[in-house]
Amino acid sequence: MGLFSKLAKNINVAIFISSRGSNMEVILKNIETSKLKGINVRLVISDNEDAKGLSIARKYNVRSEYIDPAPFKTKLEGLAEDKVIKMLQEENIELVCLAGFMRMVKQNFVKAYEGRIINIHPSILPNFKGIKAQKQAIEANAKESGCTVHFVDLGMDTGRIIAQRKVKIKKDDDEKSLSKKIIKQEYILYSKVLQDIANGKVKIPNI
Ligand code: GAR
Repeated sequence: MGLFSKLAKNINVAIFISSRGSNMEVILKNIETSKLKGINVRLVISDNEDAKGLSIARKYNVRSEYIDPAPFKTKLEGLAEDKVIKMLQEENIELVCLAGFMRMVKQNFVKAYEGRIINIHPSILPNFKGIKAQKQAIEANAKESGCTVHFVDLGMDTGRIIAQRKVKIKKDDDEKSLSKKIIKQEYILYSKVLQDIANGKVKIPNI
């Protein structure tokens, strides 16, 4: 493959969601309006059949699949994990973006896509890992918080950090107002990281 064709090739991406899917929507919108180049979202996967994001993805004509995660409540493992890996292979997925996917990923998947799974988390990691990160920040009386895009490993929000954006927390902020401030930054950060990956500024194995 010559240099030009290598540069011109889009990266095949899958996005995993669990409900609203607004980060996913912004990514799809940025691709549609050519604000984000070199990324091709070929698949959206949800562990929740009623996820609003699934219907949004369909509007963008992206293959959208619900994967029944039973019998597991908090992790992606077993049959569901096997199905996910098969779908990713069918679509030649090179990079997986978790965007509000509220489930731990396990060994088979992480091994199959080693170094090629990224996640967005609503805090400045390593602070406030896990669920309700915005509430944790308010309860800790933190002066600032923000969001992080990081590589996914087998830990909970422990993988290598790629990029972060901060927000200030005012005295009268609560979980809701802080979440609003943070999500605006998430929308900017996730597409920026994807653009950096597409431009080769952030290195992903086999891309
Ligand atoms: C986002 O704030 C994302 O950072 C968070 O869930 C929200 C999903 O919103 N993810 C986590 O808390 C993961 N631990 P969205 O579905 O509208 O993109």
